[in-house]
Amino acid sequence: MNAVVLLGPPGAGKGTVAEVLVDKGYKHVSTGDLLREQIRLETPLGLEAKELMDRGRFVPDSVVVGMIRGLLESSDFSAKYLFDGFPRTLVQAEKLDELIASLNGTLEHVALLECPFDAIVERLIGRRTCGKCGSVYHVTFNPPSNGELCDVEGCALTQRPDDTEETVRERLAVYEKQTAPLISYYEAKNLVRPINANQPISAVRADVLKSLA
Ligand code: AP5
Repeated sequence: MNAVVLLGPPGAGKGTVAEVLVDKGYKHVSTGDLLREQIRLETPLGLEAKELMDRGRFVPDSVVVGMIRGLLESSDFSAKYLFDGFPRTLVQAEKLDELIASLNGTLEHVALLECPFDAIVERLIGRRTCGKCGSVYHVTFNPPSNGELCDVEGCALTQRPDDTEETVRERLAVYEKQTAPLISYYEAKNLVRPINANQPISAVRADVLKSLA
């Protein structure tokens, strides 16, 4: 089992880049998507997560690591995994190393998407998502071709509850405090591939593909 981590602040474009890596055969694992599915199903975990996510706070490490462990242990070991939004704390990074080692796998690269925080606020406030297929748009930078409707499903797009300016700024503060230290953690292992994420989507996707080749 081999893996790549997509690291970067909220709104840097991790999900947008992941779409093109899925086309290259990666199995996309987004802890944000997994948690939103629990919220949609109204499970006890989902109810606990919603309260934290709506305020821009992290879900506890034990919950997130438990979700990832369950998923990896019951999945295809020959697959190439793309982790998006995980790990987000040093504890999660250490647990991921242990999990990968226990499955005789390798963490190949960490693609670090770098983007100024002001650009991120604009991106997240303008983000729209399809509740049916998960497609992600932006009202200005990546608009759907059909007004406010999803290109794939034709249904109305929605805004995530944590994409208000106040919550986005809180998420960025949490990122700086809890996730940014992972950059040094992975630099010490010589795994980091920095990517300029403050350029058009096609250029960011091309740079990520080049860095992972
Ligand atoms: P999660 O869903 O992972 O959110 P996030 O990390 O905050 O990242 P986003 O999904 O907001 O952004 P993205 O980088 O994927 O950007 P996107 O491609 O959509 O997590 C949500 C919450 O769940 C967390 O806050 C936390 O509470 C909890 N959680 C999740 N994982 C956890 C964990 N491991 N531990 C604890 N808690 C956890 O792009 C954003 C917008 O910009 C889009 O509109 C897009 O069209 C546009 N865009 C993208 N790229 C460009 C570009 N190059 N130029 C212009 N616009 C662009």
